[in-house]
Amino acid sequence: MNVLVTGGAGYIGSHTCLELLESGYGVVVIDNLCNSNPKSLDRVMELTGKTLKFYEGDVRDEALLRKIFQENEIGCVIHFAGLKAVGESVSQPWRYYDNNLNSTLVLTKVMKEVGMQNIIFSSSATVYTADNEMPLRETSRTGGCTNPYGWTKYMTEQILSGLATAEPEWSIVLLRYFNPIGAHESGRIGEDPRGIPNNLMPYITQVAVGRREMLSVYGNDYDTHDGTGVRDYIHVVDLAKGHVAAVKFAMEHTGCEVFNLGTGTGYSVLDMVNTFRDVNQVALPYKIVERRPGDIATCYADPAKSREVLGWTATKTLADMCRDSWNWQSNNPMGYGE
Ligand code: NAD
Ligand code: UFG
Repeated sequence: MNVLVTGGAGYIGSHTCLELLESGYGVVVIDNLCNSNPKSLDRVMELTGKTLKFYEGDVRDEALLRKIFQENEIGCVIHFAGLKAVGESVSQPWRYYDNNLNSTLVLTKVMKEVGMQNIIFSSSATVYTADNEMPLRETSRTGGCTNPYGWTKYMTEQILSGLATAEPEWSIVLLRYFNPIGAHESGRIGEDPRGIPNNLMPYITQVAVGRREMLSVYGNDYDTHDGTGVRDYIHVVDLAKGHVAAVKFAMEHTGCEVFNLGTGTGYSVLDMVNTFRDVNQVALPYKIVERRPGDIATCYADPAKSREVLGWTATKTLADMCRDSWNWQSNNPMGYGE
């Protein structure tokens, strides 16, 4: 069976293409390369010894989508394509709503036309409100997002779950990711952010490799075990395997189901710094600075539903995540760019 992977050249998409190929699926990718490099897909093919089909283009391009569905027998779609920088979404809200919402509307319109209505969507823990008890369950409160990016995830969940309610032939899986980090253990594919990284792990690896001077730790006065922010970091390969489990689930069910993809364990910024230094034996200068606006103290998942229903559990440790992130960065100091 072929899976259409939108945004498949990106960080999570490329790791998922690899796991899909390893699991025996055919893979067709559509990506406009607005935040990725097609070398990621060449390397996926090199690592697996299998080929995938790549269409360079935009998911909002209805004619191109029709052509892809005509030329390929697709059994399921995984929809990664989207813009994801929280800060940028505040300064460019229209671009975020246009890209992230219209891509889903056009994609589902064409899927309905061709009668293939199985879709897995990349949602985020950002859809949970800040006032929830931890750990976050799929039934925890959602909404109240603090930026347009978060609203696009929330609204896309509404669009897709509304479709499933109205039209029983849809099979929709909403995956709420926690904090994906790490890279494939080969060090050949990984996260390659453009410009100054917003997220913790790419910033850490760029400091360690000498591209940035020092890590700023945003606040050490939170109500956590060491005062720094706590998150549920999940290895991207575990996350990718969660998508393979979700494809199987989507093919066997109809309706709309939501799953957390996290480990269930929270680590602080200083836990990350210390583990990264210990595992990789590299220097990692840091300074404590003011809190970053919009950050919360603690966020971690209850992954029980994914374990019980999808049969999926994250298995990689924080040491694995730190080792693999560094293996990728140290072997590719400029990402795919050289
Ligand atoms: P990424 O930027 O590496 O990958 C997204 C890919 O989509 C890129 O290759 C980009 O070129 C492509 N793309 C964007 N808009 C497109 C469009 N209109 N048409 C075709 N291609 C388009 O990001 P990622 O980290 O791999 O994230 C994948 C998905 O997971 C995104 O939807 C993101 O919002 C979501 N997500 C990511 C995280 C995270 O921390 N990385 C957390 C929660 C959810
Ligand atoms: N942090 C630093 N220094 C940095 C970067 C981050 O101290 O240079 C801290 C943050 O304050 C936070 C933790 O590291 O305590 C993690 O920050 P990230 O930016 O890596 O991740 P967030 O949890 O803030 O955000 C991520 C995704 C968002 C998503 C959110 C909720 O980037 O897209 O998880 O799922 F919305």
